[in-house]
Amino acid sequence: MKYYVAPGRLNIIGEHTDYNGGFVLPVAIDKYVQVGIEKSHDDLVHVKSQSFGEFTFDSKNISATDSWKDYVMGIFDVLKKDKGVNFPGLKLEIKSNVPEGAGLSSSAALEVAVITALNGFLNLNLTDEERYNLSQKAENEFVGVQCGIMDQFASVMGRKGHALFLDTVSMKYEYVPLNTGEYTFVVIDSGVKHSLSDGGYNKRREEAQKALEEFGVNSYRELSLSQLFMKRSQVSEISYKRAMHVVTENERVKEAVDILKHSNFENLGRVLNQSHESLAIEYEVSCDEVNFIVDTLKEIDGVTGCRMIGGGFGGSVLAICEKAKVGEISAEVKEKYNKEYGKEARTYVVDSSDGAMKMDNALI
Ligand code: GLA
Repeated sequence: MKYYVAPGRLNIIGEHTDYNGGFVLPVAIDKYVQVGIEKSHDDLVHVKSQSFGEFTFDSKNISATDSWKDYVMGIFDVLKKDKGVNFPGLKLEIKSNVPEGAGLSSSAALEVAVITALNGFLNLNLTDEERYNLSQKAENEFVGVQCGIMDQFASVMGRKGHALFLDTVSMKYEYVPLNTGEYTFVVIDSGVKHSLSDGGYNKRREEAQKALEEFGVNSYRELSLSQLFMKRSQVSEISYKRAMHVVTENERVKEAVDILKHSNFENLGRVLNQSHESLAIEYEVSCDEVNFIVDTLKEIDGVTGCRMIGGGFGGSVLAICEKAKVGEISAEVKEKYNKEYGKEARTYVVDSSDGAMKMDNALI
C-alpha cells in the first residue's frame, strides 16, 4: 500500500468570511486523515474506514448516499466529470486522528487525502490549485454543502511554522510565520456535534447574500463600516447583524496578521475575544455550551483570549494559552463544563503542519 495524509485545519481568525469574499487566517494542523491505496483484483472501489466501516462502489456509476461515503465518492465523481479520469479497481484504507465535528475540518481533510492519494497513485498530475478547488467542488456539488474554500485550501497549502493569510477573492496568499514563544494553541471540543449538512450553515450563507442585496452592493469589499451605520435603518435587523460580522471580522483578520508580524503572539487573544462576540451576537452561530467554555476560559489565568472556531452550532473553542499552564487550564475548564452541563470536554494542544503529502510509511 502507498500512504498519503492530509491535515485538518485550525482557523485563527476570519470565520464565515471565506464565502463572503473576505480574508481568512488558517493553519494546517498536526492531526491527519490518512489514505492507504492499492489496486484491487476487480473493477470496483473498496473503501474501509477505521471509524465508519466499509463500503464498495462502482466508479462508473456513482450516486450520493447522504452519508460520510459522499466525501469519498464525491472526489471520484468530480475527477471523472472534470478531468475525464477512468478509475481502475482500487482499495482505500482510511484512518484519521482529526476529531470529527469539532470545527477542525475533518471532512475537508478526508476529501483532500482522497484526492491527493488518487493524484499520486494514478499519476494524475493535478496542480495544488486543482486539488483544493476540486475538493471544494465535490463538497459543494456532491455532498451538497455550500462551504467556502478555506478548509481545502489550508489542507493542501499548509506549511509548518506558518499561518496562511488568504484573500478568498483574488486567491492571493501569504505565509505568515508563527512565533508562538511561550504560548500555544489549545482546542477545547465541547462535544456538541455540528454538521455543516444540518442546514444552519447554508442558511447563514443565504442571509449574508441577502444582506448584500439589501445594502445594494455586489460584494462585502464595497461595504465599509461607516456605510453600514449609515444604511442601518434601510435594511432588516438580520441583514445588519450578518453584515456587521463580516465587515468587522475582515478587519480583525488584517489586525491579526499585523500582530503576528509586528507584535507579540499573545496579543492575538484580544482579537479572538472580539471575534467570538461577533460570531455569537451578530452572526448567531455559537451555542450555550460553547459560550460557557469561552466565558470560563476568559476567567482563567494563562489564557490570553479565545473564540469558537469553524462553522459553529457546536464544535470547539480555540484558546491562546501559556504553554506552562496548559495542564491547569485544561483541568479547570473540563471540571467547570462537566459541572454545568454533565458533558466531557476534550482538549487538544495543536501545532502547525505542512499540507497534504505522500508518506514513506503509514503515520496512523
Ligand atoms: C466551514 C466551511 C468553511 C468556512 C467555515 C466558517 O469550516 O467549510 O469554508 O466557511 O465553516 O468560517
